[in-house]
Amino acid sequence: MQYERAAEAAEFIKERYPQKIDVALVLGSGLGGFAESVEDPVVIPYDEIPHFPESTVEGHAGQLVIGKIGEVSVAIQQGRFHYYEGYDIADVVLPMRVFGLLGIETVILTNAAGSVLTTFKRGRLMLIRDHINLMGVSPLRGQNDERFGPRFPDMTHVYDIRLQEIAKEEAAAIAEKRYKKGKTKKVKTLLRRGVYCALSGPNYETPSEIRMYRQLGATAVGMSTVPEAITARHQGMRVLGISCISNLAAGITGEEIDHSEVMEAGDKVAKVFQKLLHRILKRLGEEGRAEDASTARAG
Ligand code: HPA
Repeated sequence: MQYERAAEAAEFIKERYPQKIDVALVLGSGLGGFAESVEDPVVIPYDEIPHFPESTVEGHAGQLVIGKIGEVSVAIQQGRFHYYEGYDIADVVLPMRVFGLLGIETVILTNAAGSVLTTFKRGRLMLIRDHINLMGVSPLRGQNDERFGPRFPDMTHVYDIRLQEIAKEEAAAIAEKRYKKGKTKKVKTLLRRGVYCALSGPNYETPSEIRMYRQLGATAVGMSTVPEAITARHQGMRVLGISCISNLAAGITGEEIDHSEVMEAGDKVAKVFQKLLHRILKRLGEEGRAEDASTARAG
């Protein structure tokens, strides 16, 4: 059933945007502004797409924005579906299923996350190198449809090594530029690698829970991304994940956490975050062209 629903949604999107799409990008809380970078966008509200649920969270626009950014064509999910909103986990990942059926090979997942380490401050960016799924559910639960992927997919390399390298290099180039312009005293690390731990939410955690997650090896905690990453890997797409650290997790400062703080942190890093995304997309465009050229030579 999920296959048929995803196929119908994909057909609908293809009618609106028939060209090939290179990259799918999911924008997390407070990061939705990046969708404005798309030239001549085709905007499709979720409620027009067959079988798409409606997005209910503050700060999530609930639409797909498709078009070119430079040389690369992107489908941007401005607003995602969270498990805590009450959807079936299959609905949470329906957009990923659709992206896979549209032939998209690369997925960039972003989110806002709480740091469980005191050394990782608000407004910093984290490159997800691995995750811990503590949501209590897998998006692959239920009968497997081989047209999507295998019953027992491997999760050794969820987050693509090559994409991580590109993200690190581009973050380093931005940091160097900022330093040269005198904006920082030394070259700062803009993007630190870490482990994202996914929880079902919607309540934030207790200080004891955060201590436990830290001991388990988490760097940051959040309520999204992991179902999408698992699904994308199931379909053989390559995944890049970036978290914006919106707050220190519960108990670290003793202060309480509220959602507006999470949104504000997104605004604060929006500029550097958008710059990083632009540079990553540019690199993906260059790599895509190089690949096309070598395929043409081989052919
Ligand atoms: N906990 C869980 N999810 C989050 C947090 C947090 O502290 N911040 C942003 N998303």
